[in-house]
Amino acid sequence: MDEFAYKNGEMHVENVPLSSIVKDIGSPVYIYSTREMVNAYKSFSEAFNEHNAKICFAVKSNSNLAVINTFSKLGAGADVVSAGELERALTAGISAKNIVYSGVGKTNKEINAGLKAGIYQFNVESLVELRALSDIAVSRNVNAEVGIRINPDVDAETHQKISTGRKQDKFGINIDQASEAFAMASSLPGINPISIAVHIGSQLTDVAPFNDAFTHVANLTRKLRSEGIPISRLDLGGGLGVSYVGEKTPTPIDYASVVNSTLGDLSCELIFEPGRYLTAKAGILLTRIIYIKDNGLKRFVIIDAAMNDLLRPALYNAPHTIQQVTEPEESSELKNYDIVGPVCETGDTFLTDQPFSNLKSDELLAIRDTGAYGAVMSSTYNSRPLVPEVLVNHEDYALIRPRETLKEQLKRDRLAPWQ
Ligand code: LLP
Repeated sequence: MDEFAYKNGEMHVENVPLSSIVKDIGSPVYIYSTREMVNAYKSFSEAFNEHNAKICFAVKSNSNLAVINTFSKLGAGADVVSAGELERALTAGISAKNIVYSGVGKTNKEINAGLKAGIYQFNVESLVELRALSDIAVSRNVNAEVGIRINPDVDAETHQKISTGRKQDKFGINIDQASEAFAMASSLPGINPISIAVHIGSQLTDVAPFNDAFTHVANLTRKLRSEGIPISRLDLGGGLGVSYVGEKTPTPIDYASVVNSTLGDLSCELIFEPGRYLTAKAGILLTRIIYIKDNGLKRFVIIDAAMNDLLRPALYNAPHTIQQVTEPEESSELKNYDIVGPVCETGDTFLTDQPFSNLKSDELLAIRDTGAYGAVMSSTYNSRPLVPEVLVNHEDYALIRPRETLKEQLKRDRLAPWQ
């Protein structure tokens, strides 16, 4: 069920009218539904009920402590890619034993932080990283459980900037070199290579590329076992897509059936790293129309949210559905509008030539499906303050990150001593 629905002519999130949040917090503001996150988590985890599966929420999709804590309470682990995300996951209540650390460039400091915390698994992406991890583990007198991320050379058929499993992409170790990598890892002290990791991209709307990648992983598992490497865990990454503008997307059940048919007979523990699937639909960016101007060719709706608050449209040409908070009357006449932000770039455009019933200055709009890769990718470009975040649960809501003030923003700069 959609937790952002019209009731009595106004969009609500769960049982809270959006206008009451704006009255209190102002706009723009990110608003998340707890129930939507819980439902997404349950539908994902129930699809793998019959497996020995660990679901590690990809913190990069939404790293607010209150969001991570929501998943932690449901029993999720975390997939982290930096010391910052590791710190957030631990602070939000996720046990180190449920944390996997991915990423193509972990610094020595970050490896140390992971070892110190005692995380579940490091996913290593190069031979140099294997050596670095081994050296640091030995110096700390510990053993690290390691997955080697392979690059299966599979095209995820998603936006090219978020495709990660093709040979030309920077990620993982070429699958043809996997045997040597595992042999080397086995010979190094301080590391225990027991897992294959794979992640071919994000926002996959078809399961066929998963099928290809997991078939490669299954074949490699058998090969490595025959070479004496005891693979017992497979980390299958994230990537399950969501529908932004009506695209047909696979369900967790469709995805699980691909996992079963390709990897089901290997008796491995499975790790999943879903991000977008768990958070995208749970968030909106609530914004207010500042002005509407008609230049004869186009009607521009200038809103108080911009590309610095939600980068996805500018960076990936990603469309997000936008809805009026006040429910439009069914009979109302539609006109085409371009919805744009106030930042001084033409790329600061959310939608072009989209039909809406008569829009007005001061009206509230909801930019949908922005719970994943929304707030986390925001910046202060044009010296705009970082947007606040609100979490809703039934009829309650709470500020989970206050709006940055200009004073706070300016305080981060300082003049050089000679000025
Ligand atoms: N695991 C690894 C190793 C990853 O690199 C990612 C995402 C995930 C898991 C989670 O993938 P998800 O389930 O969310 O698809 N900023 C882009 C998305 C970048 C994804 C990067 N890696 C966007 O806004 O579309």
